Amino acid sequence: MCGIVGYIGARQAVEVIVDGLTRLEYRGYDSAGVAVNTGGEIIIQKKKGRLLLLEENLKENPIKGNMGIGHTRWATHGEPSDENSHPHSNESCSIAVVHNGIIENYLEIKRELQEKGVVFKSETDTEVISHLIDSYYDGDLLDALYKTLKRIRGAYALGVIHKNQPDVLIAARKDSPLVIGVGEGENFIASDIPALLKYTKNVYLLEDGDVAVLTKNSVEIFDLKKNKISKNLTEITWDLESATKGGYPHFMLKEIHEQPKGIQETILRRLDADGLVRFDDIRLSKEDLAEIDKIYIVACGTAYHAGLVGKKAIEKMARIKVDVEIASEFRYDNPFIDSKTLVIIVSQSGETLDTLAALREAKRKGARTLAITNVMGSSIAREAEHVIYTWAGPEIAVASTKAYTTQIACLFMLALDMGYKRGVLDLAAYREILEKLKGIPEKIKAVLKNDLQVQKIAGKIKDAAHGFYIGRGMDYSIAVEGSLKMKEISYVHTEAFPSGELKHGTIALIEDGTPVIALATQQSLFEKSISNMKEVKARGAYVIGVTLEGNELIEEVADDVLYIPKVDDMFAGLVGVVYLQLLAYHVSVMKGLDVDKPRNLAKSVTVE
Ligand code: F6R
Repeated sequence: MCGIVGYIGARQAVEVIVDGLTRLEYRGYDSAGVAVNTGGEIIIQKKKGRLLLLEENLKENPIKGNMGIGHTRWATHGEPSDENSHPHSNESCSIAVVHNGIIENYLEIKRELQEKGVVFKSETDTEVISHLIDSYYDGDLLDALYKTLKRIRGAYALGVIHKNQPDVLIAARKDSPLVIGVGEGENFIASDIPALLKYTKNVYLLEDGDVAVLTKNSVEIFDLKKNKISKNLTEITWDLESATKGGYPHFMLKEIHEQPKGIQETILRRLDADGLVRFDDIRLSKEDLAEIDKIYIVACGTAYHAGLVGKKAIEKMARIKVDVEIASEFRYDNPFIDSKTLVIIVSQSGETLDTLAALREAKRKGARTLAITNVMGSSIAREAEHVIYTWAGPEIAVASTKAYTTQIACLFMLALDMGYKRGVLDLAAYREILEKLKGIPEKIKAVLKNDLQVQKIAGKIKDAAHGFYIGRGMDYSIAVEGSLKMKEISYVHTEAFPSGELKHGTIALIEDGTPVIALATQQSLFEKSISNMKEVKARGAYVIGVTLEGNELIEEVADDVLYIPKVDDMFAGLVGVVYLQLLAYHVSVMKGLDVDKPRNLAKSVTVE
């Protein structure tokens, strides 16, 4: 949801900024811009459309200078246009500002400034910041920014420069991510670490309320009251390679293939010397669990779908009631929370604003909170009482794949641990299930080898205008994710239904050739699933079955079948979903769409 990069040092700022923005384009890509202090003057270039257009413009009209800021946008206030692109400035263009977040009281401030004669060039909320800074500026940019921060309400990550202060780049953060990269004789700001990795692995993770002043040789950080604070440098352990395509045509395909490794890593990092799941750092002892009478799993989108699988796992293995809630609804529902409630927050980015707000609400009401996230130091990781990290590595493609399957792996481990501590599972059962979970990466590798067959099937359904995903039990929880993948990257309107529910209305939409992807991986429900497939087949559907090897009976009813290696009912969906990810991927590629950056979306949704 918008990406920010800033640079101060000896290099050409534009080169560093544009390079950083290419690694942040997943955060928004409807326009991009840069502002550079050329030594007494601020030059801005910004353009509606992909970063490539801005790059072409910059080649024709280069800007020279060693400090500047840049932005890639996901529009919130004001349509994508050159005027609404960042950076924004004041009338004399002495100030430039890039912003990620939303200023909630911008209209009131805008009106007030307009009454004083200030002329606005854009429809954005951000522009009020540049005019406010201008109105407070009397030679001290930091002071003007502090006065501005007092006036604005909402979420922000900011980069600010002034033409008279070519040696200073100022950054501020509240509820939107921002990191400071520390180099030798150069310093950086960015919304996310991959933008900096080419230049440094040493970062300061800013907290809400932090304001940072960067020169090429120093970084000073202040709190909201302007007290100087000291922070530890964090060394990033992963390299740029893990944030690049590594020979794959798209990040999404690379990330689909990284799932066996990600799941394995996520499991192994939590096993102790005896091979048992270790959650020592999480307050979930036998005694703690005895006090918990209710669990909520709260998340958005794909992470919510992982929660649906988690519910089934926890209820089955630990016999505790679990409700899965969509984060944007959760806090308005006055949820039943007290000190006996455990709220599990699932978020790849750890920055999704609705999810963060749900976490805060849960804490406010006294719940115990546990986050499952992929990003260390993210807001959710920092604010939750406890954290379990997924070890998926950086996920760049907008459509989530490896974060999702590693989230599910975490939820299975949590379910196992709870089940054992609560006495629902004895040690033998616990070990048996854990061994099966550890075997999942190999099963996924077998599915990945079958990619050519998925491609062929994709070719048959790519022109469909709509379609359905059906499944029973755990298969339904997986079907919803398959359907979301198809919608978001291939723009095919699909819906997921519990197989038995279709005939209560929606079956009326099935006509000749309507693709129905039917999951039948649950051995205990196999025959019933076959009956449901027959119902749609009889009405002309083109049926693609996903089932376990050995279930060849399905071929009597399905037009195509994707087989997964034999695996326990509990884990079959986690393996089968990889076929659904590949199917959506290939349809998108065949339609010539932008797989990694689908329209209207952004990777990290930091607005409500
Ligand atoms: C879809 C997708 C989104 C995210 C959702 C939550 O492929 O990625 O639905 O799952 O926006 O994001 P996080 O997990 O970062 O909170």
